Amino acid sequence: MTVIQTAGLTKQYGSLIALNGLSTTIGAGITGLVGANGAGKSTLIKLLLGLLTPSSGDAAVLGHDIRTQGTEIRRLVGYMPEHDCLPPDVRAIDFIVHMGRMSGLPPNVARERAADTLRHVGLADERYRLMGSYSTGMKQRAKLAQAITHHPKLVLLDEPTNGMDPASRDDMLTLVSKIGHDFGIPVLVTSHLLGELERVSDNIIVLDGGTLLRSQATSAFTEVTGVLLVEVLGEDQSQHRMGEALAAQGLPCRPRGSLIEVDPRGLPEPAKARDTIRDTAVDLSLGLVRIQAEHGQIQDIFRGEPARG
Ligand SMILES: Nc1ncnc2c1ncn2[C@@H]1O[C@H](COP(=O)(O)OP(=O)(O)O)[C@@H](O)[C@H]1O
Ligand SMILES: [Mg+2]
Repeated sequence: MTVIQTAGLTKQYGSLIALNGLSTTIGAGITGLVGANGAGKSTLIKLLLGLLTPSSGDAAVLGHDIRTQGTEIRRLVGYMPEHDCLPPDVRAIDFIVHMGRMSGLPPNVARERAADTLRHVGLADERYRLMGSYSTGMKQRAKLAQAITHHPKLVLLDEPTNGMDPASRDDMLTLVSKIGHDFGIPVLVTSHLLGELERVSDNIIVLDGGTLLRSQATSAFTEVTGVLLVEVLGEDQSQHRMGEALAAQGLPCRPRGSLIEVDPRGLPEPAKARDTIRDTAVDLSLGLVRIQAEHGQIQDIFRGEPARG
C-alpha cells in the first residue's frame, strides 16, 4: 500500500534549497523522518499537507495531488505541528471537541471521541484544565490528541518529542507506536535526534541538507557491522594487556570505553577472530566477560563509519 509518493519534490526559498529533488515512496506502518535541524523535515510535511507549493516536482498523499487537492488531503490526515499551537485560555476537552467538529464530526461524536482521545494520550485527569497551564509534555500530548481525534487515514507528526524529558519522550514514542501498530494508521514522524526513532519505526528516511541520504527498513540500519566488542574482567590494565596481545596476533583493535573494539573485516578470515579472542584470554589468564557483535545505528551514516562509544 502506497500512502505517500514523491517525485523530484523540491522547495526553494530564494537561493536556499530546503528540499532537493526528493523521490521516495512511503507505505503502511511507521516511517521515521530523521535529519538535523534545517534538514528539510518540516518543509516536506508542509508540502505533503498542501500548505506549501513545491518549486518543482510532484507528490501524492493517499492518492491525492498535493498541488491541487490540499483541502481533501487535510480532511483525511491528522497533523501535529512542530511548534506550540494551543490556545492557552482554552480547556483541553473543549479544544479537542472543537478540532473534531472542524474535521466534520457531529457534536456528540466529537465529544465522545475527545474524551476517549484525551484518555488515550494520558490527559484524562487534566482535561478540564486550561492548556496554558500545561507542562511541555502535556502540551505535546494535547497536540497529538487533536491530530488523531477524527480517526485520520494518515498521521503526520512533526517532532512530537521536542522539549520533553527522557521519560516523557519514551511515553510519547509508545503512543506513536500504538497509533501505527495497534490502530494500524500509517504514521510519518520526524525527529532531529537521529537515533530516537529506531525503536518505533518500520522504515527510516534520512534527510541531510534537503537531500535524501537513505530510505530503507529500520532493520537494514541495525544489521551487524562485523565489528566485535570484547569485555574482559579487571581494570584498565587487563583491557590494555588483552588489546596488546590481540594486536600482536594481527587483529586490528582499539579501546572503546571499557570495551575493546576488534575490527576483523579487512582480514582474510574474519570469522576466526572470535576463536583468537577466546584463546588469547585463556593464554593471558584473563576472564572473558563477552564477545558482542556490534550493530549499526542510524547515526553511523552521517559519520560514514560505525558508531563509537
Ligand atoms: N519560510 C521560510 N523562509 C526561508 N527559509 C526557510 C523557511 N522555512 C524553512 N526555511 C529554511 O529551510 C531549511 C529547512 O527547514 P525545515 O524544513 O524547517 O527543516 P527541519 O524541519 O528539518 O529542521 C532551513 O535551512 C530553514 O532555515
Ligand atoms: Mg522542523
